Amino acid sequence: MPIPLIIDTDPGVDDTVALVLALQSPEADVRAVTVSFGNVGIEKTFANARRVLALAGRPDIPVAAGAARPLVHEQEEWAPEWHGADGLGGRSAEFPEPVAADPRFAVALMADVLREATEPVTIISIGPLTNTALLLATHPDMTAKIGRIVAMAGSLGAGNTRGVAEFNVYADPEAAHRVLNQADVPVTMVPLDITMRTLADGDWISELTASGPRCATLAGVIAGYRKAFNERYGIDAVALHDALAVLEAVLPGTLRTTALPIRVACDLGPARGATVADRRPDAAGPPVHVALDADTDAVLAEMARRLRTLR
Ligand code: BDR
Ligand code: CA
Repeated sequence: MPIPLIIDTDPGVDDTVALVLALQSPEADVRAVTVSFGNVGIEKTFANARRVLALAGRPDIPVAAGAARPLVHEQEEWAPEWHGADGLGGRSAEFPEPVAADPRFAVALMADVLREATEPVTIISIGPLTNTALLLATHPDMTAKIGRIVAMAGSLGAGNTRGVAEFNVYADPEAAHRVLNQADVPVTMVPLDITMRTLADGDWISELTASGPRCATLAGVIAGYRKAFNERYGIDAVALHDALAVLEAVLPGTLRTTALPIRVACDLGPARGATVADRRPDAAGPPVHVALDADTDAVLAEMARRLRTLR
């Protein structure tokens, strides 16, 4: 029985790869795609998610727009230098026309999918956690229907947006705190600690490009991101952060996790957006399953194998 999924996203280069990965995974039953602000503004991320579904030939999946801004404070950081001004590495014109928009607010669509589900639903959160936090806050009766939340979020080490803050958490720390402290839902956090060790290199991208015209469009989206990675980190390889969360969701146990309570720094100082693990044996707070290790070569090979079926 395929795993029912809701994917909450802000496409985004790695979101695009992650969405295709889910759509090309036979273990997944993608019931909805919900969208928030994030890498670029909501108008663009919403159109992009619908473009990706068009590329994958899946107009049957409902796609709804949600949060246009964080819960409490204004968004301070966008990411066009990584994802292009259009959020698709400047390649949005190469995609087919977006599939139709679902008229529901994202959180209403999430709730409808949960209400109708007869099996536990996995929520994959690969953008700011705003929509997911709103769902938990406004539909407490639905949490029993959520099998797990797998979130690409946070870092126990270096940040990528501030010194210690990862982008998705920094974009809405209050929302992240809410989700990572939801005691009645198992939460897996996929942080930079593992995504930055799982690097797709030039050969990986070339093989994707050569797999067919739609794969070439997908690989083209990565080109500008690859350049930005090279400029910042001095490596010719990319971390496809969000795709790791999808692989863990469709193949549970792919990433090795450690259970740790996580608090999010929600003050306005230099630690804002930090995800702080409490490693004391008697630490309080619901444990989050933090993915800190994996066979990274196997992860990259499995992603490639699935993505290449798009052809
Ligand atoms: C996360 O931030 C975004 O820019 C990416 O799409 C990913 O979700 C990585 O920190
Ligand atoms: Ca993302």
